[in-house]
Amino acid sequence: MSDFSVFVNFKTYKEASGENSLNLAKICLKFSEEGFSVIPVVQALDLYRVTSQIKKPVWVQHFDDVLPGKFTGWITPEAVKESGGEGALLNHSEHPLPPGTVKHLVSKARQNGLKTMVCVKTLGQLKRLVKFKPDFLGYEISEFIGTATSITEVSPKSVAKAVKICGEIPLIVGAGINKKEDLVKAKELGARGVLISSAVVLAENQEQKLRELLSALSEEN
Ligand code: G3P
Repeated sequence: MSDFSVFVNFKTYKEASGENSLNLAKICLKFSEEGFSVIPVVQALDLYRVTSQIKKPVWVQHFDDVLPGKFTGWITPEAVKESGGEGALLNHSEHPLPPGTVKHLVSKARQNGLKTMVCVKTLGQLKRLVKFKPDFLGYEISEFIGTATSITEVSPKSVAKAVKICGEIPLIVGAGINKKEDLVKAKELGARGVLISSAVVLAENQEQKLRELLSALSEEN
């Protein structure tokens, strides 16, 4: 299994929701079986649909700071675990949380046997949140999210600094990653993986796009 992970964030795109989430997760699975580490990050509502068929790690995009009980409409870490989730993103720039909540959720996840990736959009935020010691940190400059401008291309220095700030904790980098050179660069800069969404989810042929991106890793290995 590769030590460089590709997290595919399904977000709430129609192309990766409902039955489409299962189709895309099966594509991710196919590459995992070829030795790549490709992790689908699905909506909570699609989690069980996917994990009931995919016997590889599947992550969820968020869970809430609530206990099982009188909390209508929230997502507990217990429910994520019970639904087969292996990990969760926290504090994605599209779902920001107060720092105290992030800290609490990292520890609740751990108690429930879930991994976490705490996302940040600035190096300042990274310096503050790294001390919560999640399993991964995700660095995404929000203005490049959903564009064809890759963070690795336009802000390599900040990625290198982020790697240093993270120390032992693996840094995953995202925003605008859309071509294989972006993965090569991310690896070169010391990142341990990428978070990708629109380039794969919205591709006319999702499998072909993912194969093209992953070819960067096989050429390197
Ligand atoms: O979490 C991944 C994401 O925010 C990056 O999105 O569409 O720029 O790959 P995208």
